[in-house]
Amino acid sequence: MEFSTRAGTAESLKGQCLLVFAEAGGKLGAAARAIDARHNGVIAAAIKRGDITGKSGQAHLLADGATRVVVVGLGKTAEMGEAGWLKALRAGIDVTLSSAAKDLTVCLDGHPVKKRDARWYASQVAQTILAATHRADQLKSKREDAPKLGAVHVWAADEATLLLAERGLREGAAIGAGAGRARELGNLPGNVCTPRYLADQARDMAKALDLKAQIYDEKDIEKLGMGSFLSVSRGSAEPPRFIVLRYQGAAKDQAPVALIGKGVTFDTGGISIKPAGEMDEMKYDMCGAASVLGTLHAVATLKLPINVVGVIPATENMPGGKATKPGDIVTSMSGQTIEVLNTDAEGRLILCDALTYTLEKVKPAVAVDIATLTGACVIALGHVASGLYSNDEKLAKELLDAGQAAWDRAWHMPLWDDYQQQLSSNFADMGNIGGRPGGSITAACFLSRFAKGMRWAHLDIAGTAWISGKAKGATGRPVPLLTEFLIRRAEAAQAA
Ligand code: BES
Ligand code: MN
Ligand code: ZN
Repeated sequence: MEFSTRAGTAESLKGQCLLVFAEAGGKLGAAARAIDARHNGVIAAAIKRGDITGKSGQAHLLADGATRVVVVGLGKTAEMGEAGWLKALRAGIDVTLSSAAKDLTVCLDGHPVKKRDARWYASQVAQTILAATHRADQLKSKREDAPKLGAVHVWAADEATLLLAERGLREGAAIGAGAGRARELGNLPGNVCTPRYLADQARDMAKALDLKAQIYDEKDIEKLGMGSFLSVSRGSAEPPRFIVLRYQGAAKDQAPVALIGKGVTFDTGGISIKPAGEMDEMKYDMCGAASVLGTLHAVATLKLPINVVGVIPATENMPGGKATKPGDIVTSMSGQTIEVLNTDAEGRLILCDALTYTLEKVKPAVAVDIATLTGACVIALGHVASGLYSNDEKLAKELLDAGQAAWDRAWHMPLWDDYQQQLSSNFADMGNIGGRPGGSITAACFLSRFAKGMRWAHLDIAGTAWISGKAKGATGRPVPLLTEFLIRRAEAAQAA
């Protein structure tokens, strides 16, 4: 799909598929009025008939000769937030996709959402179209015909708005493609997306996007001393992989941003096995890893002047004759010993060694891990915000702000010392669980013990990485947050 801005008058838009917005009561903006005037008042007539009321999320397809006009309702714009605008946009895009239109021009008209500019609107247009045309039917014997839109444009009346929109489209197309990659990987079942499959993906990406991939196999992982990571992979017939994927967009000596993604390609719970209900969703336990790959895809596409290293411990978590047993004590790469009281708290066991690797071998400016880590985070924040923890206030604010800007939000959770005691063990340096109270927090506290000596943040995406139920599927989150975070860091480095 091709994304570009389009200048010109309402006259010049003739013959295209145009998306315009209407407010409650059918009130039109200046651009929509001009388009209506050029097209014999088709919009005004539909408003007069009562077909178009401007109700939030209502979308109508009208036509005047070769021109299609999709009118979407915004509701009362005084109350308009991001969610309302995005709902309207998605409705308009879905109506367009259900038609035979081969192109779409979204007409920006005023500023319905306060504090958002054309860069944001345009970025969301690109991301929403890519999400709406995404089909998770790779493994169906008959694939549906994906709706075809060759070109997508954003139109605005003035130069300044177009300039912002152009940037937004470019970023949104890259973010949308990166999130699409994360979605695709996330939706793949555990018998396809194995640790070796993730490693192959990283290799393919390295080739296609000029990155450097380094893959450690089981023997290499032993040599690194990752006893905690190996205690998780031990129960599985599928061998683990430790994946390092580097993007160099700035000078070699510039310390990179490290993105560490939990890559549990299936989490049965191990010997502390999970109940059967919805266990299929544990194929999504590698969504952290997928978001790292998706973000690297976006960053490389945008050629950001920054260095980024993706670090992915990839394994299954299975029961078996060789599996770790509750009570087993393992030695992490850092030398700290861990009593594995529950083999289902495996994410932290693989991430702690990935953190030590990052600290010792990558020496990053900052490190961010992304993990579907705890069911407790879903209880705390639901499916709206990812949980954010950090040992560095400035880094936390950067990530929160990026999430707010990208509309892929995170919420700052406490990492206070008071919680650390829940991890104490009679037999090892720590246990791997802290009990039910504050379960997402104690998981983060566990990780913090391996992040000492670097600026680090942790995103618990257990509630945001996928949707359950009828619309089951990976969301591609938090690729938008992470990419925005890196865009901002690259910009700040350029300015300095
Ligand atoms: N991958 C799960 C977390 C999870 C569960 C994410 C459900 C999304 C939905 C993780 O490995 C896990 O099993 N965590 C346990 C930790 C507990 C044993 C301390 C959990 O959350 O129950
Ligand atoms: Mn688990
Ligand atoms: Zn897990």
